[in-house]
Amino acid sequence: MAMNNALANRQILLGITGGIAAYKAAELLRRLQNCGADVRVVMTPAATEFITPLTLQALSGHPVHTALLDPEAESGMGHIELARWADLVVVAPASADFMARLVQGLGNDLLSAVCLATSARICLAPAMNQAMWSNPATRTNAEILQQRGITLWGPADGLQACGDIGPGRMLEVDDLVAEIAGQFDTGLLAGKRVLITAGPTREAIDPVRYISNHSSGKMGFALARACADAGAITTLIAGPVALPSPPRVKRIDVVSAQDMFDEVMARVNAVDIVIAAAAVADYRAEQVAPGKIKKTGADTMNLALVKTPDIIASIASIEAGPFTVGFAAETESVEQFARDKMLRKKLDMIIANDVSRTDIGFGSEDNAVMVFWPAGAAEYQKMSKAQLSEKLVEKLSELVSEKLKQVTV
Ligand code: C5P
Repeated sequence: MAMNNALANRQILLGITGGIAAYKAAELLRRLQNCGADVRVVMTPAATEFITPLTLQALSGHPVHTALLDPEAESGMGHIELARWADLVVVAPASADFMARLVQGLGNDLLSAVCLATSARICLAPAMNQAMWSNPATRTNAEILQQRGITLWGPADGLQACGDIGPGRMLEVDDLVAEIAGQFDTGLLAGKRVLITAGPTREAIDPVRYISNHSSGKMGFALARACADAGAITTLIAGPVALPSPPRVKRIDVVSAQDMFDEVMARVNAVDIVIAAAAVADYRAEQVAPGKIKKTGADTMNLALVKTPDIIASIASIEAGPFTVGFAAETESVEQFARDKMLRKKLDMIIANDVSRTDIGFGSEDNAVMVFWPAGAAEYQKMSKAQLSEKLVEKLSELVSEKLKQVTV
């Protein structure tokens, strides 16, 4: 079976509920892992009657989570951490009882609590006896879940473990893997060309020293991946970072602000959207010393610095140029400073981080942001950078289409 690139490094929470199809979850886990996904398993108590947590723990290489109020588990990855960690929640098999609990919004077992707490998409692969599936209660529950944006895959028709024939079989593992991969292709930016800057820049002082900052590049890389998932032809201009290239993204590595500026400007006429997530150095050394600067007897030394070009502001000043998105790292008065920056740089949208918070932002896996555009604002609570990127791409695609409409009217 071909490796499904769309699943590489995805964080998938696999929920297993009580039903005979639970034994197939082991194969699903294996297949997702073979496609490069990072899978964590949460089982309901009933699921453990059908397949042991040990089997899934051995296959996944991670502890299997079963209890909501387990002090040991909560100090490691508790329900909120799991909910935040997941890029996608897949419950396979999903029993009639689990669907009913989801409809009720119950949180009295770990899996339903995770489903309540997550901002990731939730997909269910129902599996149950055909009469249970056809029961009006289950039919109504299935409808309600779909109305709330939960995706249901199957069930398929056919021979059941109990001997009945009818709807209620869990979809085959191959089909589930394809559906899961498909979740990451939203098509929201189909045909659009996106250029993203990410990471820090390094400004040389001499052959061995430089000025830089703590940007990890994670937010820009996650955005690049989300844009590619949304169907955009995506180019990533990356400063020095230790991150793998997202699949389907063209990556160009650069070192200094000037290199980044040159690479961006060479491509800007051929793109529709530019997202500037890079933490570009504002100043560079006026003169790069040709040899290593020697320590002297003096207690101080002066280094003359000159401004680097402002990449995103240069792009935003191009007449009928691309849609421009900038970032604002602020420690106070976030909205005011971010809006000022948006106006000053003539951006179409700005994503603001509160960098005074130590639990998010630079280097972290998570982020929480406010987004501003001339006519509105939106707030996104703390979540993984992958999840956040999906949501930012949704907002971006909305604003890009609105702007296009205004231009064509
Ligand atoms: O002015 P400030 O650095 O706070 O602005 C941040 C935004 O501007 C970010 O989107 C950053 O990528 C972009 N920027 C840039 N070129 C610079 C400095 C910042 O594109 N030289």
